[in-house]
Parts: sequence; structure tokens; C-alpha cells
Amino acid sequence: MALGAVYLLTDRPDRSAALETLIKTIAHCEVVAAGDDASPSVLPRAIVSDLTLSRRESVNRLRSFLHVRKASDMPVVCLLRSTTDHDLRQARDLGATICFPAYTAPHLVVQALQAELKTDETDAIAQPVIRNVTRAKEVLSGLFDGVRGGGPISLDQVDAGLDPILAAVKEGGLTQWLETVWTHDDATYQHCLLVAGVAAQFVLHLGFRTEDREHFVRAALLHDVGKAQIPLEILNKPGRLDADEMVIMRRHPVIGYDILRKSGCDTATLGAVRHHHEMLDGSGYPNGLVGAEISDTVRLLTICDIYAALTERRSYKKPMPAREAMAILTGMSGKLEMSLVQHFGNAMLEPNSAS
Ligand SMILES: [Fe+2]
Ligand SMILES: [Fe+2]
Repeated sequence: MALGAVYLLTDRPDRSAALETLIKTIAHCEVVAAGDDASPSVLPRAIVSDLTLSRRESVNRLRSFLHVRKASDMPVVCLLRSTTDHDLRQARDLGATICFPAYTAPHLVVQALQAELKTDETDAIAQPVIRNVTRAKEVLSGLFDGVRGGGPISLDQVDAGLDPILAAVKEGGLTQWLETVWTHDDATYQHCLLVAGVAAQFVLHLGFRTEDREHFVRAALLHDVGKAQIPLEILNKPGRLDADEMVIMRRHPVIGYDILRKSGCDTATLGAVRHHHEMLDGSGYPNGLVGAEISDTVRLLTICDIYAALTERRSYKKPMPAREAMAILTGMSGKLEMSLVQHFGNAMLEPNSAS
């Protein structure tokens, strides 16, 4: 139960929307835009100011919230339009405990805010999910480090990450999982955690047995592990890859397959990792498999992978709304199994799923 709200004061609500979404993953958040009532309706536990402090009305707005602060150690995060000595001094004089340039990535602002908030005040729903995402991310980073070193990797360690994912999605809902994952900065880990969360929601919806659920989420978590050996300038390139870069990027399923085979991974998971970019019409890679050559696990995983890639948040692109992503999936008839796409759509539309 939250003991108060994090107030996000903004004079540019459109630009603050991503920040608002991320703050909501760690706490109750109230947004106050220009023209709204300039006093808090519930006790503030932190203030994030995305205001232009060179404007008198903005300074007055911030002051009106600060004079009701309940404790002298309440975090006050200021996003500054400019960071001259004068601006920083002004923000500190107003009560800022942390200052960032206004263009700072929202996840970095929220990480700093989270570190400042007292743990015992963190929302009861968000906290276990944050813990489970952190646990799954630790598993992933160990895995990727192992692959970068040429493997083999510990599959027992991977299995330790499965329960946290399934439990978090089952108890906290997929939305909470996705919002928490989006606060993590590494794009590849973020993608794998998103695919794993979406996969967990899918198999929970389909009513898989516990063992089969774990098997599928394991394949989802591992599917892109070969990317650990793709050069970072290609892996993290904003925008489209050129033809040569694409050739290199397309090696990741086979790299992942080879490393996992050396590590003693089971055949079904190996197949899912190697073939998660295959399409039913034979247009996929690396083997151009067609129809019945593509296993059920791969068919399910490919849907989760494409959906996660479409709805991901990147600094250089807006996230695609879930409904638009579903429209793209349903337009891929011939490449994806449409009956599964339909089940997937239902799974994503369940309460607590992405909206
Ligand atoms: Fe992939
Ligand atoms: Fe992927």
C-alpha cells in the first residue's frame, strides 16, 4: 500500500508521458500539468519536476508542492532545461535533491528516484515484480557473459530464472511485468525479458501444465542468447541495419544453438532457439523451414518474439500500441499460424495484460 503519491509536475505533458508510465511501475503517481490545481490532493512522498524553472509560474507551482513536504528527506527530482551553475543553484535552493538535464532517458530518472524512495514505502504490488525482474535479469546477464566467453553455460542457472517470471506475470499481471522491464536499460536483456513475460502470459492463458510452461518460458528467455556474440555497434544500432550488418545479425540463432548444444540443452529448446525466425511459408532463416517442419514451440515463440519487438520502447522510436501490433500479426497469414495468433491476441487482452 502506497503511503503517498509521487507527484510529477510538468509543463510538457506529452514529453513527460514516458516518465509517468515508468514512475507508475514503482509507485502511485499523480501528474499535475499547467492549469491543474496547484496543490497536492494526497501527501507527496516524492516530487519530480519537469518544469521550466526560468518561468515564475513554474517556480511558484513547485514551491506550492514543496511547502507541504512531509519530511525534509523527501526526494525532489528536477529535470532542468539548462544546467548552468545558476540553474543548478536555483534548483537546489528550491529543494531539489537530484538534478538531471531534461533530455535524460526516463528509465535513468526513475532508477534514481527509486533509489531515493524508502523501500518500506514501495508499492506492495510493484515490489515483488521488481525483485523478480531483477532476478531474471541477473540470470540473463550471467547467461550472456557465458556466451560472450564462448560458453558452455549453466542451464541450472537459467532454470532459476523461470519461476520468478511465471510467478510475477501470474500474480502481478503482464502489464506490471512489462512496465518494470521497460525501466531496464540494456536493449537486448529488455527484449529477452519482454519475450519471456509475454510467453509466460501466453502459456498461462493456454493452460499449459507447469512443466510445459517452464519449458516454453525457458525457450523464450534463451531465444536470442546468440546475440551475445554479435558486435554491439550492430546489435544496438538505432534504425535499420544495412545488408552486410543484417547478414551478421542473422547469425544469432545458429550461434545460440551451437553454444546451447555444447551446454547440454534439450532438443526442443535447441530447436526453438535455432528456428525462432523461421516462417511457415519458408521465408524465414536460418534454414528456410516450411510448414510442418516448424515445431509448435517455434510457432508459439515466433509470435511472442515479433509482438515484443513491435511493442518495445526505444529511445529512437515510439512503442507501438498493442492493438496495432496485433493487427500486424494477424496480417502475417501464411507466415504465422493464425489460430495461435488469435489465442495470443486473447491472452494479451486479458485483464492485467498490455493495453
Ligand atoms: Fe532473434
Ligand atoms: Fe527476439
